[in-house]
This record gives sequence, structure tokens and C-alpha cells, in this order.
Amino acid sequence: MRYIEYGSEKTKVSCIGIGCMRIAAMDENTAESFVQTALEQGINFFDHADIYGGGRSEQVFGKLFQKDPSLRDKMFLQSKCAIHDGMFDFSKEYILKSVDGILERLHTDHLDALLLHRPDALMEPQEVQDAFDELHKTGKVKNFGVSNCNRYQMDLLKTKVTYALSADQMQMSIAHTPMLDAGFNVNMAIDPSIMRDGGTLEYCRINDMVVQTWSPLQIGYFGGVFLNNEKYGELNEKLDEIAAAYGVEKDTIAYAWLLRYPAKMQVITGTTTPARIQSAAKAADITLTRKEWYDLYKAAGNRLP
Ligand SMILES: NC(=O)c1ccc[n+]([C@@H]2O[C@H](COP(=O)([O-])OP(=O)(O)OC[C@H]3O[C@@H](n4cnc5c(N)ncnc54)[C@H](OP(=O)(O)O)[C@@H]3O)[C@@H](O)[C@H]2O)c1
Repeated sequence: MRYIEYGSEKTKVSCIGIGCMRIAAMDENTAESFVQTALEQGINFFDHADIYGGGRSEQVFGKLFQKDPSLRDKMFLQSKCAIHDGMFDFSKEYILKSVDGILERLHTDHLDALLLHRPDALMEPQEVQDAFDELHKTGKVKNFGVSNCNRYQMDLLKTKVTYALSADQMQMSIAHTPMLDAGFNVNMAIDPSIMRDGGTLEYCRINDMVVQTWSPLQIGYFGGVFLNNEKYGELNEKLDEIAAAYGVEKDTIAYAWLLRYPAKMQVITGTTTPARIQSAAKAADITLTRKEWYDLYKAAGNRLP
């Protein structure tokens, strides 16, 4: 496993993180082997959110920690808040209330990181600062970050927030690349040149932030996986070819493609299958060549100017 530094204390976290959005219905035995498989691969990073399964995903982990409290210290636990009742909410009151619920469900006294899940247009940076300050001073949260935020939203928060924004969790896969497309097509009068995110990847590099890629195998917004999808024939052929050359499964190459971007990249996989966790972990050992990386980008249907 390869590790990257997260937050001001530069905690070592695995470049593959386990997303827990789809585990709400897991029974205890399955959850145990799911977590054990990840830990055995050197994966120490687990991503939750207060809304996953209406809180049930966090409860699954809470039960594991109750049974074996030593498990908690083997993990870097991240959760997210801000989505509720059909709106986004960065108010101090809501952030504090949400974290208390998260800690209770997880049966832990602290989170290693809290992300604000989706930008709230009504955000008041001072309120966010006050919430973070209380959470940090009480030891409930060690690090902070955001998700689905562009650079301007992060800069706006930073007008008052004194804590480092350590990560931005954004959607990215070979079949979902708007954050890259605009950079290839600067000043062109074509659709891919439209800047949809304000240069988030470059901003994260400049500010030494971790870029967490959610839905690393999905087409568009939960459009299903592109692996073995006939609409992505050329991409699957290229993945098969490169996977054969490295002696791995093609999902490994799909994750390695994300890790090849030269920021502090962290893939948040959503698989619930232990064998696929093992495939994901192997991506940490693969550095695709520049040619392989560009070939895969083009095989997904993208054109370079
Ligand atoms: N910040 C945000 O707004 C946001 C939004 C969405 C998600 N997330 C985070 O990102 C994580 C990952 O998201 P995601 O679950 O959408 O990601 P994903 O890894 O792209 O998709 C997971 C799905 O793909 C399937 N899959 C995995 N490998 C496969 C393979 N080789 N062949 C066929 N199917 C395969 C999985 O099935 P199996 O379980 O059967 O393997 C699962 O249903 C979430 O758990 C969550 O932590 C964040």
C-alpha cells in the first residue's frame, strides 16, 4: 500500500479509501470480513456520511467497534455532513448536531476528519469556523475538509476558517472527467472547454490538499459502472490490454488511472466485495506511463485538441 499525508499532522492514510455508502444492509459477519480484508491490504481509511443508509452505514461500524474496540485505532475515520431535509446546511447548529449523531452511531469519541458534504449557498464562513473550533477544541474532530466544492467556495470558507481544508472529495472516474476536460481545451469554443469546477484539481495541488475521488467506476452521476459496459467498448479493450500487461484485473487499472494524476490522490472505492477491495489495493503499486494514461483518457471517448 502507498500512503499519503493527510491534514496538518500529516497523518499517513492509504491512497485507497473504503467508501461506506453501500454497506447499510451488511450483517455483522460480512462487515467484519469487509473491514478485515481492507486492513489486511494496508487500507486504513474509511469514508462515511451521516446520510448513508439514513445513518445505518455508520451503525454497522459502531457495532464492530463495540465488539472489538481495538479496531477503531487501526483506522482513519472520516465522515461527512451538510445534507438533510432536501437542502444543504453549513450552519453551526446543524454541523454540531450532526457530528454528535455521527459519533453516537459510530460508537467513537472522535472523527479523524469531517467533510462538509455539498456546498451550501447560504453558508456563513464565520459560523463554519465557530463550529470547527468547537469540534476541534472538544476533541471531537481532528481534521476538516470539503466535498463537491470548487476553489471559490473553498476560498470563501477560508476568509474565516482558520483550520486547514485538508481534502476535497469530488466525483472522478475515467468516464467522468469534467475536471480534466476543461484544462485540455482552454479557450476552445467547444463543450469540453466549459470550466465546470473552477480548476479544483490545480487548486488542490497548489494548496497541498488531498483529492478524494468518489464513484471511481461510475459513468456520470450513478449511471452504472463502465467496466464491461458495451457503451464503453474501446475503453474496456484498452483496460484489458493494459491490465494484461501488468498482470492485474482491469478495475485495478481504472483506479491506477486516477492515482496517476499528480496531486495527493485518494481513490474512494464503493465496492462491497472483498476480492474487489484486493483489486483496488493493487492499484497503489502501479504507476501508469504517460502514454497509457492518455490512451485511456481518449479510449473513454475524449478528444484532445
Ligand atoms: N462526496 C459525495 O458526494 C459522494 C457521492 C457518492 C459517493 N461518495 C463516496 O464514494 C464512495 C464510492 O462511491 P460509489 O459506490 O458510487 O463508487 P464505485 O466504486 O464507482 O461504485 C461501486 C459500485 O460498483 C460496483 N463494482 C465495483 N467493482 C466492480 C466490478 N469490477 N465490476 C462490476 N461492478 C463493480 C460495486 O458492486 P460490488 O459492491 O458488488 O462490488 C458497487 O455497486 C461511496 O461509498 C462514498 O463513500 C461520495
